[in-house]
Amino acid sequence: MKQETLTITDNRTGQSYVVPVERGTIRAMDLRQIKASAGDFGLMTYDPAFLNTASCRSSVTFIDGERGILRYRGYPIEALAEHCTFLEVAYLLLFGELPEERQLENWVSEITHHTMLHENTKKFMEGFRHDAHPMGMLVSTVAALSTIYPEAKAIHDADNRLLQIKRLIGKVPSIAAMSYRHSLGFPYVYPDNDLSYAENFLNMLWKMVEPKYVANPVLARALDILFILHADHEQNCSTNTMRSVGSAQTDPYLATAAAAAALAGPLHGGANEQVLTMLDEIGSKDNVPAYVKKIKEGHGKLMGFGHRVYKNYDPRAKIIKWTAEQVFEVTGRNRKLDTALELERIALQDDYFVTRKLYPNVDFYSGIIYQAMGFSPEMFTVLFAIPRTTGWLAQWQEMLLDPEQKSARPRQVYTGEDTRQFVPIEQRVPAVVKT
Ligand SMILES: CC(C)(COP(=O)(O)OP(=O)(O)OC[C@H]1O[C@@H](n2cnc3c(N)ncnc32)[C@H](O)[C@@H]1OP(=O)(O)O)[C@@H](O)C(=O)NCCC(=O)NCCS
Repeated sequence: MKQETLTITDNRTGQSYVVPVERGTIRAMDLRQIKASAGDFGLMTYDPAFLNTASCRSSVTFIDGERGILRYRGYPIEALAEHCTFLEVAYLLLFGELPEERQLENWVSEITHHTMLHENTKKFMEGFRHDAHPMGMLVSTVAALSTIYPEAKAIHDADNRLLQIKRLIGKVPSIAAMSYRHSLGFPYVYPDNDLSYAENFLNMLWKMVEPKYVANPVLARALDILFILHADHEQNCSTNTMRSVGSAQTDPYLATAAAAAALAGPLHGGANEQVLTMLDEIGSKDNVPAYVKKIKEGHGKLMGFGHRVYKNYDPRAKIIKWTAEQVFEVTGRNRKLDTALELERIALQDDYFVTRKLYPNVDFYSGIIYQAMGFSPEMFTVLFAIPRTTGWLAQWQEMLLDPEQKSARPRQVYTGEDTRQFVPIEQRVPAVVKT
């Protein structure tokens, strides 16, 4: 009979060990029994950047990178993007099931009633420099909410936790919009409770002197779809940060701010901005073959192509491409789309990209849509942070309720000096500083 175990032979001692295999995984702690001598600490694994380490069990999001599959709580992303609103998907991510009509109505109403910011928060934001980057403002202001809601520290109280979750999902778009208005020198716009989540966000961004802002329904729906696609993506860098900071029982505002800080890095949230720069550099679709040749010769990378996990077409990129067409019917065609389509067509036929399994990722088309909708590149990561807040919170809650989780604390392989004799200052030679 097939056994779900792994036999390990330690060639240092000749001893064999049998460890259980569960869901294609062995427990790293099972290796600790493997010792070269009695005083040995025991075997560890070395895995910089967690390339092959599962840090948790999770039932939130499933990705099969080889086959290009993404599911939230078992539902394919394509079905959710086609049939749901973002808040419906947020409910699914947080509570594990799609809401029925009444539950959705209550949920939407509750989130809507948490969109207002305390006037002190507004004053806090007014203190930023006139040209402050909106992502820096978002990270700092989300952290500052921890001072407005000190009761959020009671993370083991389920009702209290839920209240903070609703506040964060409600308030992050308000902070995001205020950050943007601040960078333009425009007065802040208060939320409008008659509007949907995406419409209200557009209202807080774009409303000028008109008494009531009316969002274009195609653009509002496109934004809602983009929010759905960005809501969660299992254990990526920012989600890992959320879980790691949250594991110290930090309150959810501070943990969310830390996660957003991770997202602010160009290797995580910023690739779509680089796609636009690349498309500008290419100029027109006629220049695509020469550009691709340059990439293949080792001069740079095709931005928006390739993914650490997806070795197939990123399912989100397909939906975004379709959404882009809808958006351009309203905004007029962004000329960059023609260059992007040609780039995709040529790359997908080219052996270099095919053998390396390099396909368009979520960032390939999202920047083009955001630009067509009127967003400046500094806002792109902020637009990502709004829906991802829900994913972070779903994962944070799952981590808190998981009895196996503790304060996250990896091990290290120490490579520094052995014990050294202390040298008094007058006997030291000038230090050669290592950077
Ligand atoms: C996302 C990314 C970091 C994933 O990297 P990875 O899985 O670690 O893959 P690797 O860097 O090991 O690349 C494997 C091979 O494909 C090549 N490659 C990877 N992405 C490439 C790209 N976008 N353009 C051209 N070549 C690429 C690498 O040079 C490498 O080639 P080699 O085997 O000849 O050395 C990488 O594809 C990338 O930098 N893409 C562009 C930036 C981007 O779009 N980021 C957003 C991600 S959502």
